[in-house]
Amino acid sequence: MISDRLERLRSRLERRIAGYPVPPSADAQRRAGEPPRPRPAGELRARADGLAPWYQRVYLGSGVHTLEWPHAAHHETVWAALEPALPADLRGLSVLDVGANAGWFSLRAKRRGARRVVGLEPDPRYLAQAELCREAWDADVEYRALGADDLGSIEESFDVVLATGLLYHLRHPLLALERIADLCRDAVVVETEVVPARRRQRIRMRLGPPDRLRIRSVGAGFMKFVEGDELNGDPSNWWVPDTECVRGMLRAAGFRHLSRPCYLEATRLLLVASKAERSALDLDALGRASATSRG
Ligand SMILES: C[S@@+](CC[C@H](N)C(=O)[O-])C[C@H]1O[C@@H](n2cnc3c(N)ncnc32)[C@H](O)[C@@H]1O
Repeated sequence: MISDRLERLRSRLERRIAGYPVPPSADAQRRAGEPPRPRPAGELRARADGLAPWYQRVYLGSGVHTLEWPHAAHHETVWAALEPALPADLRGLSVLDVGANAGWFSLRAKRRGARRVVGLEPDPRYLAQAELCREAWDADVEYRALGADDLGSIEESFDVVLATGLLYHLRHPLLALERIADLCRDAVVVETEVVPARRRQRIRMRLGPPDRLRIRSVGAGFMKFVEGDELNGDPSNWWVPDTECVRGMLRAAGFRHLSRPCYLEATRLLLVASKAERSALDLDALGRASATSRG
């Protein structure tokens, strides 16, 4: 439809002007190839509609996406921004996708050659969606009905942990990052809502060593508590950190090597953090030569 195409063009133009990454075109997944044994379009459409509403747009084959344009596909923007930091081939690497939703990232990791992919998703509706997408792609991905609170029960370690769209859903974000660090051998990919940096945004609080403890003004390193559903009408949102807070929590959890922050929008941050000096991911490549690494 013409109005959809105009809307798509307008949004791409606005993102380009603002300097944020532009998501791949709506057809990019389709062009990326068909599943090994595509099911009939009618069957896929009916099964996808039976599991609506969807958050992620996943290509199921035979021309069918779980969501059709112009629905947002934020995960595609995240992946496109992450792409320069990823090895061309994930062969040999294991990946844990926390808050996997319909499994878009898990499937991506598997299709890129990851040796083992496990997705955790506590919401049974999303888990059913993930199973449909996995089945459509005949993908060797394991999903478990677990959330971040269950990370301590996982007796396996992973090279890469994906924590995209996750942190602000957690009641205990630092604890979750510590548990992620316990089972992560190399790198965590964090994508999250953040409080945008503003020069005049200050909080006043008591700081300093015991002999010079006094009220000072600080401009970064905080996290806003969200008690109700005031963020996006979603009561499952709890905390919105600023970038410095995310970086500090990652360091406190044991991730010593951090990429530069990459902004996908004014309030969406993408970061890669590694425990290893030589990571399989190229931390320097994230946000390089792009307007999106500004604060
Ligand atoms: C905004 S979506 C992001 C999905 C996906 N990671 C992405 O980036 O597209 C948040 C997902 O996290 C899941 N989630 C919410 N609370 C969680 C928790 N405590 N532990 C793990 N996942 C959680 C939700 O069910 C949902 O699938």
